[in-house]
Amino acid sequence: MKNFTSIDDIDNIESWIQEAREIKANPLKNKKLGKHKTLGLLFFNSSLRTRLSTQKAALNLGMHAIVMNVSGDAWGIEFGDGTIMNGNTAEHIKEAAAVVSQYCDVIAVRAFPTLIDKEKDESEQVLKSFVKYASIPIVNMESATGHPLQGFTDAITITENSPKKRPKVVLSWAPHVKSLPHAVGNSFVQAMQKMDVEFVITNPEGYNLNPEITKKTPIYHNQKEALKDADFVYTKNWSSYDDYGKILNTDPNWMITKEKIGNAKFMHCLPVRRNVVVEDAVLDSENSLVIQQANNRTFAAQLVLKKILENL
Ligand code: CP
Repeated sequence: MKNFTSIDDIDNIESWIQEAREIKANPLKNKKLGKHKTLGLLFFNSSLRTRLSTQKAALNLGMHAIVMNVSGDAWGIEFGDGTIMNGNTAEHIKEAAAVVSQYCDVIAVRAFPTLIDKEKDESEQVLKSFVKYASIPIVNMESATGHPLQGFTDAITITENSPKKRPKVVLSWAPHVKSLPHAVGNSFVQAMQKMDVEFVITNPEGYNLNPEITKKTPIYHNQKEALKDADFVYTKNWSSYDDYGKILNTDPNWMITKEKIGNAKFMHCLPVRRNVVVEDAVLDSENSLVIQQANNRTFAAQLVLKKILENL
């Protein structure tokens, strides 16, 4: 595998899950594979889990990991082609990506959307510019429209905890005080579409995700109806896709409660706002998988890096 930028880069999700679980059982098995190789992690946005779990994955493979908070510490990077750079950007991605490629063997990038300019966000300008101008493999650590390391992690976690061969999985929108990206929701949908699960989405009117991603996945605007007989309830806020980036609804009745989900397993990518997105009683219950999900981020990233290293 050259780059990992999307859930579509997973050719066979069942075998990837199996491989990731084998890594989890023996994380240091390939501790020499990345010897003398360097992973550069470039963050245009904040992170706790992605930053630490991806570094941990690299260390487990014997790689070095170097991290940069691009937005705070680097020169402002220009992504436009042919731009007259007389504004705030001091360095073009053409030079920046080529230079970082000399210091590293793999680059991992996190760059969130504007949530203002839909066309620009959907062009994935930052991620695709790194793919275009770097001479080494690129890993997506959450881009404008996708978070494939999280989506793959969630598929692993569902497999580990499934009470039956074909569980019912519900992705439920939840209220939030801020306008949030669609990336986690998109990649979760794409991962579930590759799995042998009964998968439905529930969100208020005006909050349907990109129809090119949801495709034929059933969407309910009645949360109670969607949650019926659920084995897994994955909750996440996203801003409106149609009225791009806007908050149209903050109805607290969409918050996930213990009463609503019964004995279903609860999932969230974290960070999560307690008692806004989900009540304490759910997060503090034994049915919450959020800490296990965060742990699995390491093994998802480790498999991705392993596949890239084997192809260098
Ligand atoms: N779930 C996730 O990507 O967490 P961070 O934003 O903390 O990396």
